[in-house]
This record gives sequence, C-alpha cells and structure tokens, in this order.
Amino acid sequence: MANEDNKKLRIAIDGPAGAGKSTVARFVAQNLGIHHLDTGAMYRAMGLYATEQGINPQNADAVRALLPNVDIRVEFDGAGKQHILLNDRDVTNALRTEEVGNAASAVAQVPELRALLRNAQRAVGERYDIVMDGRDICTEVLPDTPHKFFVTASARERTRRRMRQLERLGQTANFDAVLADILARDRQDSRRDAAPLRREPDTMMIDTTHNSVRRAVERILSAIAEREESGKIKEES
Ligand code: DC
Repeated sequence: MANEDNKKLRIAIDGPAGAGKSTVARFVAQNLGIHHLDTGAMYRAMGLYATEQGINPQNADAVRALLPNVDIRVEFDGAGKQHILLNDRDVTNALRTEEVGNAASAVAQVPELRALLRNAQRAVGERYDIVMDGRDICTEVLPDTPHKFFVTASARERTRRRMRQLERLGQTANFDAVLADILARDRQDSRRDAAPLRREPDTMMIDTTHNSVRRAVERILSAIAEREESGKIKEES
C-alpha cells in the first residue's frame, strides 16, 4: 500500500514488554508489503555492548562514555529481515536473551543514546514505507504519522506468554519471578525521564489480553485503511 504521491506510509506501534507488538508489527508489515523495524533490537545492541565491555548498564555515565565508540546500524536483507550491525558485526542472533533485554531497558534511560538511535530510526522512516515498533515511536520518533497504535496486554497474560516461550526453549521458570521481572521492566520503561512509554489520546489502544494476534492485526489494518482513505478524501476536497 505505498502512497502514490511519494509520501511515505509510516506506522507507529508502542507497548510494554511481552505484549506481542513485534509479532503484530511484523504481520502488519507483511500484509502491506512494507518493511518492519523493531527498534527494541537497537537498544538491545547497546545493552549487549555495555555487558560485553563489563559496564553496569544502570550506570548512565559509564554508558555515555561508551557512545563515541559505538556504531549501531540497521540493514534489511533481500527477504526484508532486519539485521542489527554493532560496529559492523551482525549481532542480530545475540539479542534475544533476558539478560540483554534487561540491559537494553537500563541503557535506554540515557538521553544521549536515545537521541542517536532516534535519528537513525527517523532516517529509516525517510527511506522506506515502514511499520516501527518500540516504546517512543508514537510520541518521539514518528509523532506526525496519523497511524499510531498502543499494543498491550495484562501483566499476568504477558507473563503466561513469556512462560510458554521459555518452555518452548526448554527452560523452566517460576511464574512469580517472571511476573516480577515484567513489572520491573514496565516500571523502568514508563517511569524514566527520557521519552517514557506512554499512550497519548491520539493513539489507538489494542488490548490483546483476550484477543488473538490475528484480531489485533486485522483491527490495525482496517484502521490504517480507513485513515488513508479519509486522508485522500481530505486532499481531494
Ligand atoms: O521491545 P524490547 O523488549 O526488545 O525492548 C528492549 C528495551 O529497549 C525496552 O525494555 C526499552 C527499550 N526501548 C526503548 O526504550 N525505546 C524503544 N523505542 C524500544 C525499546
């Protein structure tokens, strides 16, 4: 669904950890035949780097001091899959652990890192029609797009999904421990000073607690189609 008038189609999806927003974003992008950028992976790359350098990711000054040595880039391969390059090293497959996720949430509090990644994300949005998901996409990265969504689910449901994922990986986990981890991440992502996770009134809420991913994707696609149509009508009149 690329726009004819060369204006890029930009779709913003925010939400808390474990709400399924990257899965929803990927399907929306596939359906529209456009790219998907999971911006959390860029913060994860910085979390990975801090950990590799032996830095405590909660130490903002130490994280800041690393920034001049860090280059985080996104590339899409022929199949449209995103790759994250950390100082020219493809780290895509090293980003999906709990440890890296928690480190990402910690380094994401540093405003100077956020400014760097935000610029890189906007540059991707200038280049491609795109679905971007993260925590500050609606509020900071693509605030001018009419297509803004907040995908969420209750903390208990997100915990159940995370437990299932861990079980599939052959790992055992304790429900209360996973729930505590999810609540801690919610707190850190939504209470930080720099671009906290929050939903503004112009952003459509998609609650997946009792709904399937398919249903969420359908709702988002129909909202996009409706807004694109009403945008066209406005331009013509
Ligand atoms: O979506 P995720 O779990 O991969 O993100 C990892 C962390 O990165 C998340 O806890 C907070 C941070 N993040 C952010 O601050 N802003 C974004 N746009 C995306 C992620």
